[in-house]
Amino acid sequence: MRLKIAILAGDGIGPEVTNEAVNILRAVAEFGGHDFSFVPLLLGGVAITATGSPLPTATLDACLESDAVLLGAVGDKKFDALSPDKRPEAGLLQIRHALGGFANLRPSIAYPALSANSPLRPEVTEGADILFVRELLGGLYFGSPREWNKSTGEAWNTMRYTRAEVARVARVAFELASKRRRKVTSVDKANVLEVSQLWRATVTEVARDYPSVTLEHQLVDSMAMHLMNIPRNFDVVLTENLFGDILSDEASIITGSLGMLPSATIGGAVNLYEPVHGSAPDIAGTGKANPLGAILTAAMLLRHSANLEEDAAAIESAVRTVLAGGHRTADIARGNAAAAGNASAQHLVSTTEMGKLVHQALAQSIDQRQSMHAV
Ligand code: IPM
Ligand code: MN
Repeated sequence: MRLKIAILAGDGIGPEVTNEAVNILRAVAEFGGHDFSFVPLLLGGVAITATGSPLPTATLDACLESDAVLLGAVGDKKFDALSPDKRPEAGLLQIRHALGGFANLRPSIAYPALSANSPLRPEVTEGADILFVRELLGGLYFGSPREWNKSTGEAWNTMRYTRAEVARVARVAFELASKRRRKVTSVDKANVLEVSQLWRATVTEVARDYPSVTLEHQLVDSMAMHLMNIPRNFDVVLTENLFGDILSDEASIITGSLGMLPSATIGGAVNLYEPVHGSAPDIAGTGKANPLGAILTAAMLLRHSANLEEDAAAIESAVRTVLAGGHRTADIARGNAAAAGNASAQHLVSTTEMGKLVHQALAQSIDQRQSMHAV
């Protein structure tokens, strides 16, 4: 299998965590005899500094020519005073738009080994396994008109969706749900917003094509509460761009840390893979960043862009093994393992150490798989 992967490491902790994800992909290529090539490109604050633009044309062209794009994080305090269209984040929104992926998949899983690390009680998070499907190309992020009129002291953004935009992302949610626990929870604010009424009517219509999948609707405010109260009740959660941005950060509490969450954006010309966390400039360069979100993102890349399901699952199980062994980056080192009835002590590890541990666990499981195939 040949795969050309554009690497947009970006700002802050982006390069550190992406490096660990790339090491894991290299290992998969080596073990499986695949030919993966990696093309490093500029995006975000580093791109502004080097070229004046958060998404240089060279980056965009190379991404469109690749089989998949792996992104780290963008955002840098240096550019906080700039208008939204000039900031590093503008580069991210432009690349999302140009690649065309509209369905952003954000899994949030309660790992048993991390149950003492979530501020939620273990009996609340136990068994939770949610897949958010966040619409990524519409709503307030992209709707026009948008403006901050400094002379009148007014500002406005536009939340806008077409029926077709809602239907295509709803189909992705129902397809995925039909391979999971067959439930879709669609989240909106239909008691106030016309856009949400269109959203609800369209999702209800699409649901007719999936009789084996149960559909429920939730208003976004009560959803924020249910998510923390009974996370086990949810399977696939379908929602628009801004609600999905907010709820997926909230859902990181179920897992224990934002640093754990991966994402994949599918449906466009080239799929885009990015961890959910940001650039965390406060810890950049300190070795504290958690690379597991980026590594799990690499697993999603193998699953959705290379059809290498076995390897994707092997990475995910290597991550579980390392967590079960008690290894923790600073963000997941909270909580008391002994108090949770877990005899194994926790060891604090750095970004690169965590990457190496996952690499070792992966090598062992692939060795076992190969010797099983050889028998
Ligand atoms: C995310 C981020 C981005 C978003 C920002 C950095 C533009 O928060 O991927 O969740 O709002 O989509
Ligand atoms: Mn976000």
